[in-house]
Amino acid sequence: MKPALLRCCFALFALSGFLSLARSGKVFRQIKEHVRWSQELRAHKHLQLYGVGGGPWPKAETLRQPLDHFNRQNNATFPQRFFVNDGFWHPQGPVFLFIGGESSISEYSVLSGHHVDMAQRYSALVVALEHRYYGASINPDGLSLENIRFLSSQQALADLSSFHLYITRRFNLTRNNTWLCFGGSYPGSLSAWFRLKFPHLVFAAVASSAPVRAQLDFTGYNKVVAESLSNPVVGGSEKCRQAVSAGFRAVDAKLKAGNLSELQKDFLSCGSLVLPEDQSELVSNLADIFMGTVQYNHEGAGYDIAAVCDIMVGGGEGESSYTRLTHVLKDYLARMALSCLDCSFQKSLLELQSTRLDPVGVGERQWVYQTCTEFGYYQTCEDPLCPFSSLLSLSSQLQLCSQVFGISSASVGPAVTFTNEFYGADHPKSSRILFVNGDIDPWHALGVLKDRSHSERAILINGTAHCADMNPTQPQDPPPLTLARQQIDKQVGDWLEAARKEFS
Ligand SMILES: *[C@@H]1O[C@H](CO)[C@@H](O)[C@H](O)[C@H]1NC(C)=O
Ligand SMILES: *[C@@H]1O[C@H](CO)[C@@H](O)[C@H](O)[C@H]1NC(C)=O
Ligand SMILES: *[C@@H]1O[C@H](CO)[C@@H](O)[C@H](O)[C@H]1NC(C)=O
Ligand SMILES: *[C@@H]1O[C@H](CO)[C@@H](O)[C@H](O)[C@H]1NC(C)=O
Ligand SMILES: *[C@@H]1O[C@H](CO)[C@@H](O)[C@H](O)[C@H]1NC(C)=O
Repeated sequence: MKPALLRCCFALFALSGFLSLARSGKVFRQIKEHVRWSQELRAHKHLQLYGVGGGPWPKAETLRQPLDHFNRQNNATFPQRFFVNDGFWHPQGPVFLFIGGESSISEYSVLSGHHVDMAQRYSALVVALEHRYYGASINPDGLSLENIRFLSSQQALADLSSFHLYITRRFNLTRNNTWLCFGGSYPGSLSAWFRLKFPHLVFAAVASSAPVRAQLDFTGYNKVVAESLSNPVVGGSEKCRQAVSAGFRAVDAKLKAGNLSELQKDFLSCGSLVLPEDQSELVSNLADIFMGTVQYNHEGAGYDIAAVCDIMVGGGEGESSYTRLTHVLKDYLARMALSCLDCSFQKSLLELQSTRLDPVGVGERQWVYQTCTEFGYYQTCEDPLCPFSSLLSLSSQLQLCSQVFGISSASVGPAVTFTNEFYGADHPKSSRILFVNGDIDPWHALGVLKDRSHSERAILINGTAHCADMNPTQPQDPPPLTLARQQIDKQVGDWLEAARKEFS
């Protein structure tokens, strides 16, 4: 593919959804979008250097899907976006299915990443399906309270099965064309679950950073954030963790003492902090900087654990942890080219209540809906060992479900329990699934970290963050990451060999 065309297209599309799971803090969302953008830039540069393979430039295509797979009397449909790259494919070759999640996907989902590198090696057809209700895969009125109810992981898996049929017909595929699926983060779980629930459709699955165990109160998230801040492998230290903790304690004390104008000035809040919900928004945004930095360490946030810890504990003595925390915030705002920190809860709430569609980026409203109806995953800080503010409470997160969707707080726990019952949590009893996690990544706490059986295997990478294995190889990759990619590659090769034996 010609670089000129790449250049024109690249700005219009965001990279695929494998980058993270979202929470409702504004700052976390900003960091996530920033990582997306920089990974897309990286993919773009990579393609300029190495080209795309022999096929045509992948275009966005659309498949009409039933809105409700589980009620055939409902004949409503929605348009689902997908991408195909057949540039590497040999007609007897395998099919690599890349699964989209809580963000839009773009052609980069079939052009860049470790699965694409492997597709080249194994002459695979690469296909990617955007998740229903995210990106362009939604009806104009899809986000209304009436219509959002057809958003669920079960419907998403059914979408994958009808996409399988569509691709099979379009490319005249036979049993010789072995399907493997790939996904990271929530789509990592979908990848494992697609193999679990549809073993006749997909021969094996790679599930990267997949939080397969749903959990209402995900206190373990910030436990890992704290561990990562004190992990010397990534430039953290015990001193750093303590300084962060002390900084937040000072903020909490000032909130308690009612020194609101001081906080507003010190943390450049755009508006007053008189309302309690705006105070929660402030501490949530501050915590987001650390959560985002840890979750995306070395993945293009432009900032990493070592840099944050340097601000918190580097240089001379004399400055309080509180003051250093204000430096972290100011540094963050400068990097994002923002003049103040938006702490208006009302504004956040209005954004979540808005049914306006945004074809590119993270679907925040949709993801919050899925947390309320399926997963929980609330990254709370009520555990005394959590380094941030205890204002990050489960009750405030649950309240959001009723404020945005009218979903009762009491229904969320049972929904999460059902999800674990339905999919088997972190003991799925399936076969041919490879679970890959990074030990810096907070989400690994809900993943499969040890081999469950000879064919449900796990790789835990020392010192990497969220979904790092899915990125294309980089010269600065740490040795454990390089080794993990080699293991994934070997496993994929072994699966394809096993499939050849089984079907010939
Ligand atoms: C869908 O179903 C409704 C009634 O259930 C019917 O009136 C309508 O014609 C159907 N539309 C299509 C396209 O089949
Ligand atoms: C599939 O088969 C049909 C009928 O034999 C043929 O026209 C079509 O070109 C084939 N498609 C592919 C992608 O091979
Ligand atoms: C609140 O502000 C006053 C005046 O600036 C100061 O004396 C006091 O120490 C502050 N309290 C806290 C908890 O920071
Ligand atoms: C990770 O690697 C570092 C060396 O870089 C080593 O000191 C540490 O023990 C390893 N951690 C684990 C959990 O294996
Ligand atoms: C599958 O591959 C085997 C071995 O290469 C071949 O004999 C067989 O005809 C193929 N089947 C189909 C349906 O293409």
